[in-house]
Amino acid sequence: MNATITGTGSALPAKILTNADLELMVDTSDEWITSRTGIKERRIAAAGEYTSTFAAEAARRAISMAGISPEELDLIIVGTVTPDFPFPSTACIIQNELGACNAVAFDVSAACSGFIYGLSIADSFIRSGRIKKALVIGAEVLSRVVDWSDRNTCILFGDGAGAAIVEAAEDLKGILSTHIFSNGSCWNLLYQPGSGSRNPATDRSVDPALFFINMEGNEVFKHAVRAMEEAALAALEANGMTASELSLFIPHQANIRIVNATAKRLALPAEKVFINLHNYGNTSAASIPIALDEANRQGWLKRGDSILLDAFGGGFTYGSALLRWQLDPLNS
Ligand code: COA
Repeated sequence: MNATITGTGSALPAKILTNADLELMVDTSDEWITSRTGIKERRIAAAGEYTSTFAAEAARRAISMAGISPEELDLIIVGTVTPDFPFPSTACIIQNELGACNAVAFDVSAACSGFIYGLSIADSFIRSGRIKKALVIGAEVLSRVVDWSDRNTCILFGDGAGAAIVEAAEDLKGILSTHIFSNGSCWNLLYQPGSGSRNPATDRSVDPALFFINMEGNEVFKHAVRAMEEAALAALEANGMTASELSLFIPHQANIRIVNATAKRLALPAEKVFINLHNYGNTSAASIPIALDEANRQGWLKRGDSILLDAFGGGFTYGSALLRWQLDPLNS
């Protein structure tokens, strides 16, 4: 049995935080942020909006595109490091919101690689014959774990969600391969110290700094480029392809310099690289499915196209998915 993507969706907060807004909050400038990261603005969840808010909306849009009903779903996976609660999983909350009563639901903690990990799991479940229809979501509200007084990190991140419906298909091989990797030796280069069992919220340890993203930016940068190249090459090699045969490369939208360095190593021309990080910043697990949905709805993808998704995140985690696109452009 093969697996193929039959619908995509995304959802973003309405509130926009620009680089000019950040200039009023920390000692930074639009020029610095743009030249070092490529980011111009990001979306920020309002009070009363949670990770599940955007995850559910993205899911509804993907379900609608696929033309299925929520009861048909066998599996819901949410990639997130900013779940609504430590437990239950955000996936269970989404299951309830959608009325997807026949699905098994769980979260995957793989930071920015969460969507690719989820896609890989869904693909494996489908190919093994265990399930027929899966909903894979990447969703984050990183603005709640960012230190808004730390210019090293607060300029980078944003909120949002993206989703894909993955279905069993006898004849259509839509997901050609997935490769996922972990390198736990670097876990402490990008992590959130608080809220787990090492630093639980007790009277003595409630220090807000524990709950913010902690990152060694320069080190993360170097690892990201190497790892994304490795994951991309694993996908190409497994399918006997070269990068020149790709129709579109959709990398994790962390930083334009990471994206450009990876594309250069793969010898990919700029017109084959999908970029939307200037609008949303780094939305972690949501970044690739938001980009995939935008590429899909904006008519970048044609049936038969070879599309390479490539992720990297805290853990470290990284991975790729090579797709043969099986949907017609929405406006055709
Ligand atoms: N505005 C202005 N200056 C800033 C700044 C900001 N927002 N943030 C840092 N600086 C300063 C630093 O304090 C430093 O000043 P100094 O030379 O006086 O000490 C200088 O800019 C250079 O800092 P540096 O950290 O070397 O910059 P950089 O070119 O490495 O860019 C990042 C920093 C964070 C943009 C970059 O390292 C990066 O993108 N790393 C990867 C982060 C990432 O993608 N994480 C998620 C992975 S999934």
